[in-house]
Amino acid sequence: MTINHKRAEELRTTLHHHNYQYYVLDDPEISDAKYDGLLRELQQLEADNPELFTMDSPTQRVGAAPLSAFTSVKHEVPMLSLGNAFSSEELAAFDKRLRNRLDDDTDIEYIAEPKLDGLAVSLLYEKGILIRAATRGDGTTGEDITDNIRTIGSIPLALKGDDWPQTLEVRGEVYMPKEGFKKLNEGLLKEGEKPFINPRNAAAGSLRQLDSSITATRPLAMYCYAVGLVKDGSIPDNQLDTLEQLGQWGLRICPEVKKVKGISECNDYYQNLAYIRSELPYEIDGIVFKVNNFDQQKELGFVSRAPRWAIAQKFPAEEETTELLDVEFQVGRTGAITPVARLEPVFVGGVTVSNATLHNMDEIKRIGVYIGDTVIVKRAGDVIPKVVAVHTQGKKRIVIEQPTQCPECGSDILLEEGEAIARCSGGLFCPAQVKESIKHFASRKAMDIDGLGSKLVVQLYDQQLIKHIDDIYRLKAEDVAKLERMGEKSAENLINAIEASKQTTLARFIYALGIREVGEATAKSLAEHFLTLEKIQTATQEALEEVDDVGPIVASHIVTFFKQPHNQEIIKALLDANISWPEIEIIADETQQPLAGKTYVLTGSLTSMTRSQAKEKLQALGAKVTGSVSKKTTAIIAGEKAGSKLTKAEKLGVMVLSEEQLAELIA
Ligand code: IVH
Repeated sequence: MTINHKRAEELRTTLHHHNYQYYVLDDPEISDAKYDGLLRELQQLEADNPELFTMDSPTQRVGAAPLSAFTSVKHEVPMLSLGNAFSSEELAAFDKRLRNRLDDDTDIEYIAEPKLDGLAVSLLYEKGILIRAATRGDGTTGEDITDNIRTIGSIPLALKGDDWPQTLEVRGEVYMPKEGFKKLNEGLLKEGEKPFINPRNAAAGSLRQLDSSITATRPLAMYCYAVGLVKDGSIPDNQLDTLEQLGQWGLRICPEVKKVKGISECNDYYQNLAYIRSELPYEIDGIVFKVNNFDQQKELGFVSRAPRWAIAQKFPAEEETTELLDVEFQVGRTGAITPVARLEPVFVGGVTVSNATLHNMDEIKRIGVYIGDTVIVKRAGDVIPKVVAVHTQGKKRIVIEQPTQCPECGSDILLEEGEAIARCSGGLFCPAQVKESIKHFASRKAMDIDGLGSKLVVQLYDQQLIKHIDDIYRLKAEDVAKLERMGEKSAENLINAIEASKQTTLARFIYALGIREVGEATAKSLAEHFLTLEKIQTATQEALEEVDDVGPIVASHIVTFFKQPHNQEIIKALLDANISWPEIEIIADETQQPLAGKTYVLTGSLTSMTRSQAKEKLQALGAKVTGSVSKKTTAIIAGEKAGSKLTKAEKLGVMVLSEEQLAELIA
C-alpha cells in the first residue's frame, strides 16, 4: 500500500467518523473548518491519484455532474403504502381485526413511530457500501437518485461494523427539518425566488434535482424505518431490534420510536405525540403502528398494496384548501394594519377556521393572491392560521387593495419608508388601537389580570366604562355586573383580579405599557439596567442604547413614548392607583445569583407552576433559560410528556432534572 493510499484511507475513515458524529449523533467533535480542511486534502489526493477514488468517499457528498434524466429502478421487494385510521375507533377496529386473525386475544406488541412527512427512499448497500438510492415511485418502479442521496450528511456512504448482510436494502423517509426549511425559504426570498410551500415540497423539490450540487446545498435529513431486500446475512426477528441494529450500522433512527403494548398504550402514544408535535424539529402527519414480531407480520400478510400488520393513524391535516371570500383590514395595538382573509370555513389543524392572516401587502403580492382564489391555509399547533399559497386561481378574481383610511377611525394610513407594515396614524383617537392596548395591558405576561380577556375589554370599551388603561383601576363591581354575560360573582372576581395586579414588577409594568417593539425581554433588560421607572422615563437615546438588545430604533420608540403628555398622564394615574413593585436589588456577588453562568432548558408540562413562571424564577437566580439543548446546557428540566428535547439531552449526556428537583433548586 502506498503512502497516498494509506493517507486516503485514513482520511476517509476520519471523515466518516466526524460526519456520523455531526449528522447522526448531533455531537460534533471538530470544527467545520477542520472538517473542510480534511475534506479538501482528500479531494486533492483523489484528483492527483484517480486510482485512489472509492464509491464511498466522503468527497462524493458535494454533488456530481448534472444528469439529463433519472433512470428507472425496479424494486425487487415492492415498496408498499399504509392503510389509514382517522380516529381512535378506527385504530381499535384495526387492533381487533389483528387479534381475530392471529386468533389470540392478548395485547399485541406494536412499535409506534412518527409518520414522517417527507419522501420514502430506498438505499441499497452492497458489502456495506451505498451503491444505489431510489425513490418509491409507484412502489414497483422508482427513480435512481443516488447522486442526490449521497449529498445528505446523515446517510452513511459506508455502513459501520462488519456484520451486515452482503446485500441490504434500507428504507426510510428523507425530509427537511423545520429550521432548515425556514432558512432555505428566507434565502430564496432574498434572492427574489419563489419559496417552497412546506418542508415536504422542499424535500421533494430538492431530491428531484438533476443537478446534485444543488441538492448538496439543501438541508435534508433521513430517518430509516424498514428493511427491504436482504441477502447473505440476516437481521433481527422484530421491528424494534431491527431499528436498533440499523442504528448500530450508522443509520439514523427517529428517537421517538417506542414499543407499546395493546390499544390503550397506542392511544397514549398518539396523544403524547400530538401534544409535542409542534415542538418536534421535523413535520409529522400521524403515527405508524407496526406489529413488532416479524413472525406475526408474516402470518398477517398483505391486502392489495398495504400490509395488514401496520396502520397510519393520521393527525388532523395542518393544511387545507378553501376559498378566499374577502379580505378585511384589522388595526392592531400599535396601529399596524393587518389584512385578514375571510375564508369559506374549513377544518384544519383540528379546528374550523374562517379567518386567517395575510400578514401585510408585501406578502399578498408575494403569494399572488386575489379574492375568489382557492388558497392553502395552514394551522399548526396553536399558531394563528395563515394563508400560505394560492392553490387554484378563481374564475372571477378581485384585486386586494389596502385602504388609505383606517377602517376603525378614518385617520390616514401611513407606510413609513423601509417598513412592510402600514399603520393607522390615529393613535389614541383610534378605538381599535385603544382596545388592543387595553387587552395587551391586561394580558398574562403584562399585568396578568385574570378574566379581563378580549371580549370583556370590547364590552367595557363600548359601554364607555374604560376609555384608557388607567380606567381599569376605577372600575366598580356594580357597573361590571350589569354587562351582558356577567354576574355579581364574576364581576367581583374581576375586581379582585384587578386589585391583585397592582402588586407587580417593574419589568411587567414597562412591558404592559405597550411601547412599540418593547417586548418582554427588552422590558426586563430596561428594568435591570435602570432599576427605577423614573430613570427609564428620563433616559436619553444614548443611555437607552447602552442596554442589552436596545438598538437605535427601539431607543427612539422609547423616547417618543415617554415624551407624549398623554402617556405621562396615564402613567401618573396608574401610579396613583397604587400600582407598585419591589425595588430591584443590585446583586453584587454570586451568592445571591447562585445560578449565574448556568443554562437550563424547560420541556414538557409542569404541574406546580407554568413554564414561564419556572423560567422567571430561574432567571431571578441568575440562570439563563434557553429553548434548545446543546452540550453547553447545564441541565434540562423535564416535566410531563417531555419529548425530543429530553431524548436529545439523554443522548448528549446532559443532566435531566425532575419537577421536584427543580423545586429544590429554586428553593
Ligand atoms: S412504513 C409497509 N414507517 O408513509 C410499510 N412509512 O403511506 C411501509 N412514512 O410511503 C411504510 N413515516 O413515505 C413507514 N415510520 C414510518 C413512516 C412511513 C412516514 C411514509 C412513507 C410511506 C408512506 C406510507
